[in-house]
Amino acid sequence: MSGFIKEELHLLLLPALVALFFYVNLVRWKRTKRLNLPPAGSGWPFIGDTFAYLKPHLATSTGLFMEQHISRYGKIYRSNLFGEPTIVSADASFNRFILQNEGKLFQCSYPKSIGGILGKWSMLVQVGEMHREMRMIALNFMSNVRLRSHLLPEVERHTLLVLRSWRENSPFSAQEEAKKFTFNLMAKNIMSMDPCEPETEKLRLEYITFMKGVVSAPLNFPGTPYWKALRSRSNILRVIEQKMEERIQEKSERQEGAEDLLGWSLKESNLSKEQILDLLLSLLFAGHETSSMALALVIFFLESCPKAVQQLREEHGEIDRKKQRGQPGLNWEDYKQMEFTQRVINETLRLGNVVRFVHRKVLQDLQYKGYDIPCGWKILPVFAAVHLDSSVYDHPHQFNPWRWQNNSSATAATNNFMPYGGGPRLCAGSELAKLEMAVFLHHLVLRYRWELAEPDQAFAFPFVEFRKGLPIKVYCIHDSPM
Ligand code: HEM
Repeated sequence: MSGFIKEELHLLLLPALVALFFYVNLVRWKRTKRLNLPPAGSGWPFIGDTFAYLKPHLATSTGLFMEQHISRYGKIYRSNLFGEPTIVSADASFNRFILQNEGKLFQCSYPKSIGGILGKWSMLVQVGEMHREMRMIALNFMSNVRLRSHLLPEVERHTLLVLRSWRENSPFSAQEEAKKFTFNLMAKNIMSMDPCEPETEKLRLEYITFMKGVVSAPLNFPGTPYWKALRSRSNILRVIEQKMEERIQEKSERQEGAEDLLGWSLKESNLSKEQILDLLLSLLFAGHETSSMALALVIFFLESCPKAVQQLREEHGEIDRKKQRGQPGLNWEDYKQMEFTQRVINETLRLGNVVRFVHRKVLQDLQYKGYDIPCGWKILPVFAAVHLDSSVYDHPHQFNPWRWQNNSSATAATNNFMPYGGGPRLCAGSELAKLEMAVFLHHLVLRYRWELAEPDQAFAFPFVEFRKGLPIKVYCIHDSPM
């Protein structure tokens, strides 16, 4: 084709595209005009309310934007977020309805940048049959039997490794320590990587760069956090791939239960090499960031609630005393006795809101509470807004583990509590997360007293993080046998 004709075509194409853009928006506008959509503010063209919605705010609050929108428009409103028309829900029953109808009326739909970085085969972005297959692998790996026999002793071993390294009266970042703990635990269980090995430490540092990209703007230019994260992703995958090759060469069978996730996926699943790589990377991500933040938050909340620390010490002291002399480590019966501890964990997740909302898409036109919910729109169930709603929880901004005591208000609290999501995509690692926190708290309260070395607060960016890394100082309270 001659250059002249090409130029002519370009000249025609541009106005055609602009016309198409306006036509599509006009049709959309006309259609939505006829519908009884949830109410909305004005927002900016194209970018809508995204920046206002994502503006950092205290993790223990819903943020000014959300508060103002709820008070003006109610618990279900519409907005323009992440470049798409969106319905935002702070309504507990609607959130439950959305999660329960995954794959029927709604579908998991994370922004493209998340898939770009976690991988196109990441379990978090997969839907349908492939999601089900990957979910089965994850659930098998964290089954009740494995939790009792294998993961409980592993969690305790990694807890002790971290706590024993702490020096009295010398400030350190509790958030960093929590991340080290959960990363090493996952690396060991996913790929049998030992915490003290330089290779594991190198991978951990690579992972920190990777994480900064997951939560940054998806700008792929040299030097941006997203660009650096994509490079880290390649480096991390190279390590996992090497482990995979070693495993394929390995002749000897591992003991039952001692099999790591890599070995298990190679032997028992029909996934391709590329799919296994993305699955392992996304489990490392899902199982590391969330529970480490939950641990940092519980250390933070307890520091200002001595009554809860005292009750925890009594519970764990009792478990410790009942153990027969010389009996090593915690067992499942010990874990089951940690009732108050579970209330502390619930309250931490309610008030701290590690995962504040999830991304979904509407699969077909429907109505809810008189509103039209159009097919193709994005929909965000915001758990944090329910967890901090004063019509659901009394004094929602107070850390009060006793609200989970068995009575009618605890039942209502539990029904509206969704820190792990729900429905067919309910967190596959929720039981492991609870176990990690309970075992960590057991040894923490028996061994140490702690205080903030300087004031700090957790912020939602919307991922939750302590601005200064939660600097604390610890003091031994007695020589525990650990
Ligand atoms: C306190 C800690 C944790 C919290 C608050 C949490 C929260 C969540 C939430 C809200 C989801 C649902 C996402 C969605 O619906 O789009 C989820 C999914 C998931 N979580 Fe967790 N999580 C935690 C710990 C863990 C741990 C320790 C693991 C272990 C590997 C894990 C593995 C997963 C996986 C594999 C999924 C995807 C499930 C699926 O799509 O079927 N999580 N988590």
